[in-house]
Amino acid sequence: MNVLLIGSGGREHALAWKLAQSSFLTQLFVAPGNAGTAALASNLKLDVSNHDAVSRNIKKHGINMVVVGPEAPLVDGLVDHLLDCGKHPELVVIGPRREGAQLEGSKAFAKEFMRRHNIPTARYGSFQGTEVEDAIAFLNTMEPPYVVKADGLAAGKGVIITEDLNEAQKVVRDMLSGASFGSAGERVVIEEFMDGIECSMFAVTDGKAYHLLPSAKDYKRIGEGDTGPNTGGMGAVSPVPFMDAEFHEKAINQIIIPTVKGLAADDIAYNGFLFFGLMKVGGDPYVVEYNCRLGDPETEVIVPRIQSDLLHLFENMGAGLLSEYHLQIDPRTCSTVMLVSEGYPGTYKKGKVISVPERLDKDAFLFHSGTSRSRGNMVTNGGRILACSAMAANPENALKKSYALANEVTFDGKYSRSDIGRDLL
Ligand code: AMP
Ligand code: GLY
Repeated sequence: MNVLLIGSGGREHALAWKLAQSSFLTQLFVAPGNAGTAALASNLKLDVSNHDAVSRNIKKHGINMVVVGPEAPLVDGLVDHLLDCGKHPELVVIGPRREGAQLEGSKAFAKEFMRRHNIPTARYGSFQGTEVEDAIAFLNTMEPPYVVKADGLAAGKGVIITEDLNEAQKVVRDMLSGASFGSAGERVVIEEFMDGIECSMFAVTDGKAYHLLPSAKDYKRIGEGDTGPNTGGMGAVSPVPFMDAEFHEKAINQIIIPTVKGLAADDIAYNGFLFFGLMKVGGDPYVVEYNCRLGDPETEVIVPRIQSDLLHLFENMGAGLLSEYHLQIDPRTCSTVMLVSEGYPGTYKKGKVISVPERLDKDAFLFHSGTSRSRGNMVTNGGRILACSAMAANPENALKKSYALANEVTFDGKYSRSDIGRDLL
């Protein structure tokens, strides 16, 4: 089977690494990929927002399956195009259509979905551009801290949390006027602040059955002790010690099953990943957000724990046979520490030469995020550069190995947080 994986981050390198081990794989293509995926697969220089170009490459390379990594092509309707253009009748696509991707692409859609299906989440109101005064009146009834969210995709920056009512009102006005987030802010969600600890659960579903993937916690802020601006994620650990069996059970019954059933009840076909961003409040799970794809860097700690053949799992999803599939997960801990460019998540330089250890320890994995090749060198090509993942019997030893690996990598301006996972020890 020939597979095309869409994306270019650490998530895609981890997925490519796992897919490349499958006995069902003939050839793996990644578009556009990075220096890490180039070592395992053929990178295709391809603008994935050009749906016709993707379609042509599927024909050209005899692709049987497309796996979509990031959210943007899903929200943009790439899957609908590939399935509806009539050119690929046998193609299996892992990733939801545009409608299902609205769970991530529109916070108002996600909140309405949760309300409809009684899925626990923060109380909220959602408002569009013509409803500024209603939005302000609703905001005035809330208690601080105030949580204001742009409806659409905003690369993790569309959520403002503030103790200051005047600032929250200004955020609402700026978003609804289109001044701050463009079309992503044409609608806003104002919601109750949830005081708890965040963690994430992941599932694959074919719209009927689902399988849980390993849970994870990521570290979003740039600075030590969870300070400073949000990033895409500075590290992750799986499993999460405070997500005990009782919490998992509640999350499965109150959130995951109702979500899969809710999609079916709403007639939303869904063949792909579900990412549940959760808040644990006094032992109970609430949904903070849905994503319609895997997380990054969560994938870099989830994938090493999957013992089953991932391509075989995807084939079962494509055939609607997920319920018959048995997924095996390694019980050990996997951690990852992200190495980023100085200046990230603000501005940073690219093109710095990277040196990596020639040989990795057993159970240590270096997943590439923003890397490319230039004149025979591996160079930095983004904010997040490399995810240093490692498996061990417990979080302490996994993190030790991740940090040992992180120390062996060098590039000008290398930065990482030194406290990933420390709160879990
Ligand atoms: P989102 O993009 O909806 O996941 O929000 C980004 C981040 O903002 C989350 O990861 C949380 O840390 C925080 N957040 C969002 N909504 C809430 C809420 N209702 N209460 C507390 N924190 C929140
Ligand atoms: N690490 C958070 C995300 O992928 O959304």
